[in-house]
Amino acid sequence: MKTVCVVGVAGFIGSHLLHALLHETDYRVIGLDKEAPDKISRVLLRSDRVEFTQVDVARSSAALADAIERSDVVINLAAICNPSEYIRQPVATIHSNFTDAQECIELCVRHKKHLVHFSTCEVYGRTLSSFGLPAEDAANSVLDEETSPMVLGPLSAQRWNYACAKALAERLIYAHGAEEPGWRFTIVRPFNWIGGRMDYVPGLDGRADGQPRVIASFMSALMRDEPLVLVDGGVAYRSFCYIEDAVEAVLRMLERPERAAGLAFNVGNPENSIEIASLARLMGELYEELTGQRRGATVSIPGTEYYGKGYADSDLRLPSMRLVRERLGWAPSTPLRGALKRTMAAFIAQYGERLAKEKGAA
Ligand code: UGA
Repeated sequence: MKTVCVVGVAGFIGSHLLHALLHETDYRVIGLDKEAPDKISRVLLRSDRVEFTQVDVARSSAALADAIERSDVVINLAAICNPSEYIRQPVATIHSNFTDAQECIELCVRHKKHLVHFSTCEVYGRTLSSFGLPAEDAANSVLDEETSPMVLGPLSAQRWNYACAKALAERLIYAHGAEEPGWRFTIVRPFNWIGGRMDYVPGLDGRADGQPRVIASFMSALMRDEPLVLVDGGVAYRSFCYIEDAVEAVLRMLERPERAAGLAFNVGNPENSIEIASLARLMGELYEELTGQRRGATVSIPGTEYYGKGYADSDLRLPSMRLVRERLGWAPSTPLRGALKRTMAAFIAQYGERLAKEKGAA
C-alpha cells in the first residue's frame, strides 16, 4: 500500500481530498496540519489508514522530514490563501507561501519524493485584456499554463505579494526539476474551488474578524440578513469549480504520475465564469430557493477601504483546459448553480442554527 503525505490536511481542500483518498484509492495518508482537524469527520480520522498529527511544519522540520521520508508522494496545501490576509499580514503571507514551502520542496528533492504542490491561479495576475488588448483574442483573456504571461502590479500593491511568493515557489520547484531529472513534481493552480467547509464565518469558528473569500462572505451576509459587500462594485469575474470535481483532478495526478510530472496544471471550470455582482444576485436567488427567505441587498465598497491600502484585483480568471484535458483526461462536470447550491446548503447546515440563535439573542 502506498503512502501519501498531505501537508495542510485539515483545511477546506485537504478535508475533501482526504475523503476522496480514503473512498476512491487505497493510499495510506499521513496528514499534518497546524490547526485542529475540525473540518475532518471523526470517522475518517479513526480510519487505520490515517495518521494525523497537529504540528506547525514551519516550526518543526523534523516532523515534516519524518513524514516525507515515510511517504511515496507529498501533497503540499499549507498556505495563507485569503486576500484580506495579504494586506493584514504581508510578511507572513510571503513566508507562508514561499519560505515555508521551500523546506517541503527541498525535502522532497532530497528524498526523491513526487511533490504535488498547490500554487494558485493568481500567479497569472491581471489579463492582457484588462490593459486594453482585445478580449475576443483568447491570448489576451484565457489563462494558459504554457503561453500566458504573469502580470502582477507595482510593489505598493501588496495584494500581489501572495502571487509573487507562489510564483517564486513554482520557479524553485521547476529549477530543481531541471537540475534533478530523476525527481518528479506537479504544480496545481486551483481556480476558485468551492464547496462546504471553505473558509469561515466571521464571529463564529473562533474567528472574530477578517474577511473570508467571496462565497463565505456572501453566505455570512445572507444568513445574517446584512447587505452583501460588492468590492469595487463587483465588476471582477471569477470561474468557480466544485470541490468534488477538482479533487478528481488531483487523484488523477497520483494515479498517472508520469502524465502529471514536470508540469503546472490549471484546475478550474471556465463554463462557470460569472461577474461578482451577478454572483451576488444568483446567491440571493438560490438562498430564497433553499430557505424561503428573500435576501441579498448589496452595498459597494472600494477595495482599498474594505481590505486596506495595497488591495488590487484580478479582473478575469478563465482557465485554459487544454493541458489538464490532454495529459490527465480531466474535465469538470458540475454547473455553477449546482455547485453553489450544494455549497450554500452546507453553509446553512453548518451555521444556520447558530446564527439564528445569535439573532434571537440580539
Ligand atoms: C483568492 C486567492 O487569492 C487565490 O489564490 C485563490 O486561488 C482563490 O481565492 C481561490 O479561491 O481559488 P480571489 O478569487 O480574489 O482569490 O478571492 P475572493 O476573496 O473570493 O474574491 C473574489 C472576488 O470577489 C474579488 O473580486 C473580490 O474583490 C470580490 N469580493 C470578495 C466581493 O466583492 N465581496 C466580498 O465580500 C468578498
